[in-house]
Amino acid sequence: MVDERNILITGGCGFIGRRLIARLNESGGWRITVLDNESTAYRGELDGLELARFVNGDVRDPAAIEEAIADQGSLVHLAAQTGVIPSIENPDDDFDINVRGGYHLLRAAARHGVGSFVFASSAAPIGEHEPPLHEDVPCRPVAPYGASKLAMEGYCSAFRQSFGLNTVVLRFSNCFGPGSSHKGSVVALFIRKILAGEEITIYGDGEQTRDFIYVDDLVEGLETALLKADSADAGLYQLSTGIETSVNVLVTALTALAAESGITVKTRLQPSRTGEIIRNYSRNDKFVNAFDYRPATPLEPALKQTWDYFVDLRDH
Ligand SMILES: NC(=O)c1ccc[n+]([C@@H]2O[C@H](COP(=O)([O-])OP(=O)(O)OC[C@H]3O[C@@H](n4cnc5c(N)ncnc54)[C@H](O)[C@@H]3O)[C@@H](O)[C@H]2O)c1
Repeated sequence: MVDERNILITGGCGFIGRRLIARLNESGGWRITVLDNESTAYRGELDGLELARFVNGDVRDPAAIEEAIADQGSLVHLAAQTGVIPSIENPDDDFDINVRGGYHLLRAAARHGVGSFVFASSAAPIGEHEPPLHEDVPCRPVAPYGASKLAMEGYCSAFRQSFGLNTVVLRFSNCFGPGSSHKGSVVALFIRKILAGEEITIYGDGEQTRDFIYVDDLVEGLETALLKADSADAGLYQLSTGIETSVNVLVTALTALAAESGITVKTRLQPSRTGEIIRNYSRNDKFVNAFDYRPATPLEPALKQTWDYFVDLRDH
């Protein structure tokens, strides 16, 4: 019997998944099942967190999905091939995991009567566009990763209309925070390099911008969306800060944190990379209006939490 307290999280071992599980544990009342093939993060990362069940399996495998999905009230689909460059190097894998795997999950969710299906998308479907990005910008993905996320956005819409599955697509902006040691995103990369005494590379004039969302804000937004998914009127939302932060601002903040630890940051300036998106941030008013939640942790304290996490990892 479907029970609304039962939730399946695919990719639950990963950076965002772990933090989401911790958040749902704190809130209480959720019975969490994780489906993860442990390809980029591991079950051991979930030590200390409360789970009803762990299914070691692949979203490309319908049998593994069947094992995990019975009686689930909701589903958060995080498992993915998450890299832009790997998607260009191996578009077949990107398609297989992100589109075929996601499609199998949607099929199974519709068949099993799952109440809400939340899909982790990104700004990548949009491709290059003058910011701020928002839900009505036409999508022209520039890499297979963006195309595979866009394909899943399409299937989420179709399953909503054709089969009554309550799908919610959340386009996350650049997420950072504790738990990101295996990630190649700029915040994780810079902190790893600074702590290793290596140079960090700044391309161009460092004025390129991103929309950095703190992982605790992102998972709070995710939980809020889960709880209100029934009343959401349209299925696609940017989950972002709406704030444009340059690489130079990021480096200044990290330099201050490093100085507190007696570390001098070494930078190397390189010409701009061909194809790099220069300005990138997303409006979040549709999400804020629908779910009455606004990501609000300021950059500095969030970076401090992230810095402390990496220092702790280095020292233990
Ligand atoms: N981190 C970000 O800044 C960001 C931004 C936009 C969107 N997203 C999306 O959010 C989701 C979670 O990202 P993350 O940063 O936590 O990534 P992550 O790599 O830390 O976690 C992904 C998890 O999925 C699992 N996984 C991968 N392929 C699988 C498969 N075939 N079957 C089962 N499990 C599989 C991995 O083992 C890992 O535990 C992804 O869908 C990603 O595309 C992340």
